[in-house]
Amino acid sequence: MTVPYPVHRPRRLRGDARLRNLVRETTVAPGDLIAPLFVREGAGVRDEIASMPGQYHLSPDTLVEEGKALHDAGVAGVILFGLPEKKDSKASGAYAENGIVQQGLRALAKKVPGLLRMADVCLCEYTDHGHCGVLRKEGRGGDAEVLNDESLPMLARTAVSLAEAGADVVAPSDMMDGRVEAIRDALDDEGLDQVPILSYAAKYASAFYGPFRDAAGSAPQVGDRRGYQMDPANGDEAIAECDLDVEEGADMLMVKPALPYLDIVRRVKDEFGLPLGAYHVSGEYAMTVAAAERGWLDRERTVLESLVSIRRAGADFILTYFAREAAGYLNK
Ligand code: PBG
Repeated sequence: MTVPYPVHRPRRLRGDARLRNLVRETTVAPGDLIAPLFVREGAGVRDEIASMPGQYHLSPDTLVEEGKALHDAGVAGVILFGLPEKKDSKASGAYAENGIVQQGLRALAKKVPGLLRMADVCLCEYTDHGHCGVLRKEGRGGDAEVLNDESLPMLARTAVSLAEAGADVVAPSDMMDGRVEAIRDALDDEGLDQVPILSYAAKYASAFYGPFRDAAGSAPQVGDRRGYQMDPANGDEAIAECDLDVEEGADMLMVKPALPYLDIVRRVKDEFGLPLGAYHVSGEYAMTVAAAERGWLDRERTVLESLVSIRRAGADFILTYFAREAAGYLNK
């Protein structure tokens, strides 16, 4: 008897676009995407960010225009970051009643109510030293140290202020221990018990945040963030971080960055039953844009492949600077 010709011929399903469409396992849609946006004071501002071509510093009025365009394209929502006029050691701009993100949230709530409003909760854009919490100049070992428990009330106050201004979701990105619980308690005390927390649960101390620190003016003046963000070499620790955040009351989890950490996205998705986001960060954006500008990558295909890969790894939604652009490709 001759050896039977292999019965399974995977290419049979690849030669025809209609069949490829039929058997495709993963989809990505504008409704899976959240656009990060940067808000500053003023009117009519639309200043391009040098390290992130195609991304802008917006004032509340131009933020509303951008929000409308995103909403019209079917993008799920936005996450706001603020560039305050003044920074100080107490990060007062983070929780000021008329803080810049608070203004942006109110404007969007009024003018584009159909767009989901997320607010990043962190202090680094508002502290004069650029760290995500309260800084002691000479901490353990002589290096500057970010104090954990001292930072929690400020983060909680910030989350309450943002929720009061109209954030539908608050997303702590500071990586202090215990911040989810502190924020949950503070929201509940203020009658904001229906505001969910999206925790940046597994946030790595990543070089891929470089362009963001330019965009948000939040680079630490001394030291770095390795004392509170995760070591890129650790995977099991991401599961432990998520476990803690779930216990503390996180409603959704996030892994950040995305593409270099797809193994973590998959592990977190398999381990926890909660909705999962992945943050396709500024450096991932910048390197794609730069390579495409040089003609080394096909921009549209690279963007869509990156996003579908993040979804395939297990992310339910993606925070990406490509949100508006990708929606344009997907809506064609
Ligand atoms: C604030 C924060 C950062 C990012 C999101 N929230 C910067 C950082 O941790 O240094 C990075 C986002 C990006 O790179 O796109 N802590």
